[in-house]
Amino acid sequence: MKNVIVLCLSLLAFSAWSQSKIDVKKEFEFAAKQYEGMLAAHPDITQFPQSTNPDGSPRNMKSSWWCSGFFGGSLWYIYEFNKAPQWKDAAHKWTMAVEKEQYNTRTHDLGFMIYCPFGNGYRLTKNEAYKPIMLTGAKSLSTRFDPKVGLIKSWESFKGGYTYPVIIDNMMNLELLFWAARESGNKDFYNLSVTHADNTLKNHYRPDHSAYHVLCYGPNGEVLAKKNHQGAADESAWSRGQSWGLYGYTVMYRETKDKKYLDHARNIAHFILTNPTLPADKVPYWDYSKPGEERDASAAAIAASALLELSTYGGKDAKKYYDTAVQMLESLSKAPYKAELGKNNHFILQHSTGHKLGNSEIDVPLVYADYYYLEALLRYEALNKGKK
Ligand code: GLY
Repeated sequence: MKNVIVLCLSLLAFSAWSQSKIDVKKEFEFAAKQYEGMLAAHPDITQFPQSTNPDGSPRNMKSSWWCSGFFGGSLWYIYEFNKAPQWKDAAHKWTMAVEKEQYNTRTHDLGFMIYCPFGNGYRLTKNEAYKPIMLTGAKSLSTRFDPKVGLIKSWESFKGGYTYPVIIDNMMNLELLFWAARESGNKDFYNLSVTHADNTLKNHYRPDHSAYHVLCYGPNGEVLAKKNHQGAADESAWSRGQSWGLYGYTVMYRETKDKKYLDHARNIAHFILTNPTLPADKVPYWDYSKPGEERDASAAAIAASALLELSTYGGKDAKKYYDTAVQMLESLSKAPYKAELGKNNHFILQHSTGHKLGNSEIDVPLVYADYYYLEALLRYEALNKGKK
């Protein structure tokens, strides 16, 4: 009963909160036009849209790259909004283009690669052909979990001779395992996800609730080192990493209903929302210690999507989460973040940063910024219509 009251209050609150200027229909019409150009520019389904090269040319990647599932996933989101059959066909084509990665046991990113395209495709079409692919992908991902360490191994090695690195991004791959646990009845997928999340919560986070990027573990789960890879420094807070953690622990609460994950997600939200370097437009700089440098629109898109979900779980800051997500979406839905039609190598968003210190993908479009932006727009629309 208490839950019903909370839900009713949330729905009442949403109708009162929804005073924003975001025109979701207009944004999806734009996305569809922009991605028509993307589809025309990508006749070869082994060349996945990723970003823009320093010379301005399109940067494409193979299916084994961690981002290969995002384009298909975004096509499903466009189809979800407009229900036009050609988008279903395009989404199916770019989903199946990732099929062989279900057997890939050399990456922890199978959650992104498999669940974003196949998971959305299955949710929207119930195409039974997608199910065994996702289950095999979940099995492949779970081979990277060593029970003695209690975590999924992210990479094979990390500089300094470490052989069991785990990155905060890994939290995003657990959603596939929760789906597989439900679908197959195999509780191992559920249990290893919980163990991974618990150890990440214990070791990856600082007292201010910001996360390190890379933790290096020993064979019995001992923490050997706390390191940086894509942020500015070992002790800084890489913006996208904070967004991955926020999203990941929000999913943990959704899947387990364990209040400690909700508290943790709220703590991460507090770090982001109260950070003195978060600009007025709510699109973070690429690292929270680097105000004035490049932005990372992807960090905003991921956080917006997560904050919208977090706002549905109530609490004293629920309206703040919703309002901040809306501010993020309003910023991303106009210049300088939203591209002009036919420009930006057909990506929707500009001004993301992949790996600044690695001199890679700096102030560019990124395929996953578009994906989480479209996801957040759909969540925003659903909340304002009072849907779950
Ligand atoms: N390592 C994945 C990312 O760039 O967020």
